[in-house]
Amino acid sequence: MNVPGTPPCIPGHIAIVMDGNGRWARARAQPRSFGHRAGQKAVREAVEFCLRRGVAVLTLFAFSSENWKRPDAEVGALMDLFLRALDKEVDELHKNEVRVRFVGELSAFPEVIRTRMRGAAERTAGNSRLLLNVCVNYGGRWDIAQAARRAARDVAAGELDVDAIDETTLARYFCLADLPPPDLFIRTGGERRISNFLLWQIAYTELYFTDTLWPDVDQAELARALDDYARRERRYGRAPEPAARTG
Ligand code: IPE
Ligand code: IPE
Ligand code: MG
Repeated sequence: MNVPGTPPCIPGHIAIVMDGNGRWARARAQPRSFGHRAGQKAVREAVEFCLRRGVAVLTLFAFSSENWKRPDAEVGALMDLFLRALDKEVDELHKNEVRVRFVGELSAFPEVIRTRMRGAAERTAGNSRLLLNVCVNYGGRWDIAQAARRAARDVAAGELDVDAIDETTLARYFCLADLPPPDLFIRTGGERRISNFLLWQIAYTELYFTDTLWPDVDQAELARALDDYARRERRYGRAPEPAARTG
């Protein structure tokens, strides 16, 4: 689905698994946290790219529900980085009319981070040039479970009829329910997997994988992903367009 006003070859919504920070650091004989810090520049590149190309929504996977399994030192370094990024980046994002939202099970984060996340979201709430969703402590399976839980609660409260639960009704309970699903999913870092990022939402999303490690991602790399996307034929189960049909 394209966001009104964007040409069809430009994805209205891009979702990115920002992977490869650890390997980028290892290649430089540095600790993994060094790679995470370097990855911040690539986040700026991606935001700038979306602003330039008129992409309306950018959804970034910054920390998965499984990333807590990493060594304490790495998780701690990531929390420090989030905190510093929240202080440092929000001014610039706000200046560029970017609206920032945090998506995931936020209750797991220390209060100091949650306050900053809330502050950033509130401060930028009126911006509409680009919506930046930052997924933290997010998991696609968690999202399905929380959607089911909230729907069940509404059934128990008599506000939802069990027999009325279909794909459209259930879709309202998922994170990002207010947005068209991602048109383009990008994973950097060479792995060809979803790693529990958006599951429900990417049923018909175009997938793009690149070996480039996240800290090395720049405008040219993202432009290649968009060029590739522009050549895709999105059929949603229909037969190919007559020109492309062979039999
Ligand atoms: C992605 O990079 C960042 C997070 C998961 C927070 P990784 O840290 O997974 O880097 P690799 O995959 O080990 O290189
Ligand atoms: C996915 O990357 C999570 C983020 C980029 C935030 P991982 O590095 O955690 O995924 P796996 O472990 O390779 O599947
Ligand atoms: Mg990884």
